[in-house]
Amino acid sequence: MADGCVVVVGGTSGLGLEIARHYASAGRRVVISGRDAARAADIAATLPGEVTGIGLDLADPHGIAGALASIGPVGSLVLAAIDRDENTIRDYAIDRAIRLATIKLVGYSEVVHCLTDRFTPDAAIVVFGGLAKDRPYPGSTTVSTVNGGVLGMVRTLCHELAPVRVNSLHPGIVGDSPYWSGKTDALDRVQGRTLTKRLVAMEDIVGATRFLLENRSVNGVDLWIDGGWIIN
Ligand SMILES: NC(=O)c1ccc[n+]([C@@H]2O[C@H](COP(=O)([O-])OP(=O)(O)OC[C@H]3O[C@@H](n4cnc5c(N)ncnc54)[C@H](OP(=O)(O)O)[C@@H]3O)[C@@H](O)[C@H]2O)c1
Repeated sequence: MADGCVVVVGGTSGLGLEIARHYASAGRRVVISGRDAARAADIAATLPGEVTGIGLDLADPHGIAGALASIGPVGSLVLAAIDRDENTIRDYAIDRAIRLATIKLVGYSEVVHCLTDRFTPDAAIVVFGGLAKDRPYPGSTTVSTVNGGVLGMVRTLCHELAPVRVNSLHPGIVGDSPYWSGKTDALDRVQGRTLTKRLVAMEDIVGATRFLLENRSVNGVDLWIDGGWIIN
């Protein structure tokens, strides 16, 4: 297991928070980020062990270096933040599209750039995409685009940062994640198309993240976690 702390960008909610909870419970030093420092600190205080909360707005990439200045050596980095955008090409909201593209492509990259000299030699990075890249839904134009962009990010970063490992994780809809709470019709449709007949759960994503971060030979991998998809 890598030395250095675990940094979870987007660690104040959903999948990022569950990943932070796992590593905090396992005794790792953890840093979680959200847009608001006070909220992130409050959430960090609910986790066991040594957890720090910081404020960091990926939509404002020029401010990222300052926000990360206090972080020491990094053994594990998870990039899980998102501010979802509903956009179609016929009814295109430029500002929301720029915001999400900035968060997931420029913001994620700038976090890695700022931490480059702080990664331990056995460090690993997991970048979150999502299966909207392959299975678009109405309004997913920008989400599908940026999740596809994550593939390119992994291709280049695993070479540029070697020996630091870089992998991406692409969940299907995670049934017990807060974003999907109450969206029963959509969840039922997805469950009906899933080979396992069950929705992906947050604990499955924590397990997959651990595999990508901890297996020392997994590098440059784009991992789908969806239970298998019925194609007709
Ligand atoms: N949930 C799913 O079913 C699912 C499926 C496929 C892919 N994914 C991917 O998995 C990742 C996590 O998804 P989730 O559903 O767990 O997310 P979530 O619960 O919506 O949490 C989003 C996180 O991103 C942070 N955030 C939002 N805007 C930000 C900004 N401008 N700058 C920095 N941080 C920002 C939020 O922090 P604050 O609110 O505290 O600012 C929060 O910690 C995402 O990359 C998503 O695309 C999720």
